[in-house]
Amino acid sequence: MNTKRFYIITMGCQMNVYDSEQMERLLAPMGYVPASRPEEASIILMNTCAIREKPEHKVYSHLGRLARLKRKRPGLIIAVGGCVAQQQGKRLIKRAPHVDIVFGPSAVGRLPAMVKQVENRRIHVVDVDGAAVAEPPEIKPSLLHDKRATAFVTIMSGCDNFCAYCVVPYVRGREASRQPAGILEEIKNLVETGVREVTLLGQNVNSYGKKNGHGVDFVQLLEKVNAVEGLRRIRFTTSHPKDLSERLIGAFARVEKLASHIHLPVQCGSDRILKRMNRGYTKGAYQKKVDALRAVRPDIGITSDIIVGFPGEQRKDFEETLDLVKSVQFDNLFAFKYSDRPDVPASTYRRKVDEQEKCERLAAVLETQSRITRHKYRSLIGSYQEVLVEGLSKKGDGQLTGHTPCNKIVNFLHDRADMGHMVPVKIVEAFSHSLLGECKGRRQERVPKKGGELHAA
Ligand code: 5AD
Ligand code: SF4
Repeated sequence: MNTKRFYIITMGCQMNVYDSEQMERLLAPMGYVPASRPEEASIILMNTCAIREKPEHKVYSHLGRLARLKRKRPGLIIAVGGCVAQQQGKRLIKRAPHVDIVFGPSAVGRLPAMVKQVENRRIHVVDVDGAAVAEPPEIKPSLLHDKRATAFVTIMSGCDNFCAYCVVPYVRGREASRQPAGILEEIKNLVETGVREVTLLGQNVNSYGKKNGHGVDFVQLLEKVNAVEGLRRIRFTTSHPKDLSERLIGAFARVEKLASHIHLPVQCGSDRILKRMNRGYTKGAYQKKVDALRAVRPDIGITSDIIVGFPGEQRKDFEETLDLVKSVQFDNLFAFKYSDRPDVPASTYRRKVDEQEKCERLAAVLETQSRITRHKYRSLIGSYQEVLVEGLSKKGDGQLTGHTPCNKIVNFLHDRADMGHMVPVKIVEAFSHSLLGECKGRRQERVPKKGGELHAA
């Protein structure tokens, strides 16, 4: 009998990476094993993202390529999930009739039933119902296909912030937090399989627990996760600057497994544009929070998102963004050209910025940041970093790879037996997006102190 294989194409954010992992785990008990190429798969899943225009275009071009595979093998099942699926629903099947299943982010748990329906009856299935469910399907760790040292754990879904440019609240629904007990159970199960680092995920983790009345807020959740035995490191993303509380900043001083990194999207450095974006903070308030974070964790890595060319953004507004990038000195930056999304308030705003101007602003912000990034990476040369050995480097040169507490990739030669463990690595060289390290020590069993630097004996 032919083995049933699945292949997942994941686009967009880390929430999607988590959802794709859930899909893998749900397909395993149905007898599906991973395929290394789409050509070998009996089911191909695309987990899509609608946040910017480009990823959405990518979905349709990918689907065009998959149509050729389906013509060769009519038995192939094609499923499209994620936010584009949620938005498009039946329209997606009209435009791409070779798609069998369309399912939104809240329907992930129902994937096995949908696949069975198609296997048995070759019908189209569309499931884009309901608000996002916060509780993921229960999954047995023994069904995981590969051993990983790091994992994502979604702690909440949806968003209530309604930033003027953003489609997330419309496609992912209102904010809903998972029960702390379910989150802790999932993390304990992951640790049992060898996971040593978790990244807690949500569109705005700072407002975890505010609405659902679990009696546990985000800082308390961090403390509970910190107490999970065997777990070595905690990361989280994303934090909305307006909700980054003094207590959470203080947690960086107290919660010992919390890694020295925060992703804190600023979006823009002009107070006028921040207001039009409905972000709820000023440039000054943002800078103060950055200063407070660095006061409690001087080695903290701070990364951010920037949108250039928001409607009405004038040259002088953009100059303020450049000034902010220079004054904050981010470790890294993701910069995007503003793009109109369907039904969001900003799509109706006038004084749209010309495409050429957006390109120039994007290039200018990336150029400014690349100098800062280079400096940040170089400043780590000579330091000792505690690195979780995550696997083999992508280059295929036998080096191992992991991240520093401040979230920079380090490659180094070392004994593979330490895979999945923390090791002390001395940084010897800096490249534009990675570091080269030397590891003379062996794995450490002790819990890291504040996730910070280790000093060589
Ligand atoms: N256009 C451009 N960038 C956007 N983002 C969200 N919506 C848009 C949009 N309409 C960016 C923001 C956000 C990141 C995930 O995507 O910077 O933080
Ligand atoms: Fe979108 Fe703003 Fe919510 Fe982030 S906080 S998901 S940018 S609406």
